[in-house]
Amino acid sequence: MLQSTTSKSLIERDQKHLWHPLTQHQTAPPPLAITKAKGAMIWDENGNSYIDGIASWYTAMFGHANDAIIGAMTHQMQQLDFVMFSGFTHEPAVTLSERLLQLLPSNQERIFFNDNGSTAIEAAIKMALQFHFNNGEKRDTLIAFEDGFHGDTFGAMSASGLSSYNGPFEDFLLKVKRIPVPTSENVESIVQTLQELLHSNACAAFVFEPLVQGAAGMKFHSGNGLDRLIKICQEHGVICIADEIMTGFGKTGKNFACDHLQQQPDIICLSKALTAGMFPLSITSCSKQVFDAFLSHEVAKGFFHAHTYSAHPIGCAAALAALELLTSDAIGEGIKKIENAHGDFVQKLAGHPAVENARSLGVILALDLKVKTDRYGNFRNRLYQFFMERGVNLRPLGNTIYTLPPYVITDVQLEQIYEAISAALDEFESIC
Ligand SMILES: Cc1ncc(COP(=O)(O)O)c(C=O)c1O
Repeated sequence: MLQSTTSKSLIERDQKHLWHPLTQHQTAPPPLAITKAKGAMIWDENGNSYIDGIASWYTAMFGHANDAIIGAMTHQMQQLDFVMFSGFTHEPAVTLSERLLQLLPSNQERIFFNDNGSTAIEAAIKMALQFHFNNGEKRDTLIAFEDGFHGDTFGAMSASGLSSYNGPFEDFLLKVKRIPVPTSENVESIVQTLQELLHSNACAAFVFEPLVQGAAGMKFHSGNGLDRLIKICQEHGVICIADEIMTGFGKTGKNFACDHLQQQPDIICLSKALTAGMFPLSITSCSKQVFDAFLSHEVAKGFFHAHTYSAHPIGCAAALAALELLTSDAIGEGIKKIENAHGDFVQKLAGHPAVENARSLGVILALDLKVKTDRYGNFRNRLYQFFMERGVNLRPLGNTIYTLPPYVITDVQLEQIYEAISAALDEFESIC
């Protein structure tokens, strides 16, 4: 019989057995025990409430415990809980692929299912490598942006430029050549670097976060510049992989960040807001050209890559309900409202002596403090604590403070986030 552990607090039980992500357990304070979430709010076990100012790593964009999504998942669970996706298919996966392809760039034609962001990228990179292999070419090099983040599996880590994550694994990664993100000032020199890279390496794929590098600190780059890089890559037969795991589903003010571009990527990766934080699921979509390279009488030319939980029916049902919300007037208005409010707040921040580079795009707002700090250093931890003490969950990335609130956040809650940020600027101005 299982021993009863109910006399101990959640934290005590957690500290005995659990290993948390992105945590140095020797020095980190205990985690907060969260017992409830609804809309833009989360509650801890002592009844304290917090505004989820980053929608729990940009997933719960339609609000926590959304009734429409819960209803769709409950219905699906009672109808068909799970069945493997090799040799079988089901309604939620078929309908989701049809609905998604109506929204994605028009060259996207096939949907491959995975179970999280990293595995979506991993599948995309393998698709690109095998695309060339099936076409009789050995291409072995990836192109990626400096400071990009694409996940924690080996292919995804290889494409990621954030060294704080990759240190111990550098010797085991795929070959990658990095270029800076394009701005209006540097684009000509990047174009030249890219052309040289393409001539001296067998480049298979270009992996990028379109317009916004999330984990790097919500760094924005030029859509026109990115368009030029994609075009050049595609002219050289390089498969362009847009990582929309953070940017997808309305965050940049359009359904996908790629909707701001002229060029269409060959492969797109989606996760996070795909299921609104309700279920781990991800998608790697691709063009007809990519898919067709896997058609053959030779079995081995197929894509022999699978996850047990591929196309989980409950996840697909959650995603369908989330898409319904994304395309609704109410959510569209919520996105516009946040976008406008962010624009006004950025103007207010612009002259603040502690602030550098206040910026916003869609529902993403970020600013850099004029102070140098490690990504997980003491100052960053003090900032995090400062916000939590004011009932706002914001997780600064080094010296970058950002918010990416759920689309259903109320005016009052959004104002509370801005007030907490303004208070932090005043509090820490003297050290900036
Ligand atoms: C742009 C981007 N790509 C990939 C990932 C990895 O996704 P996951 O954490 O679900 O593996 C993330 C996670 O934050 C991300 O922001």
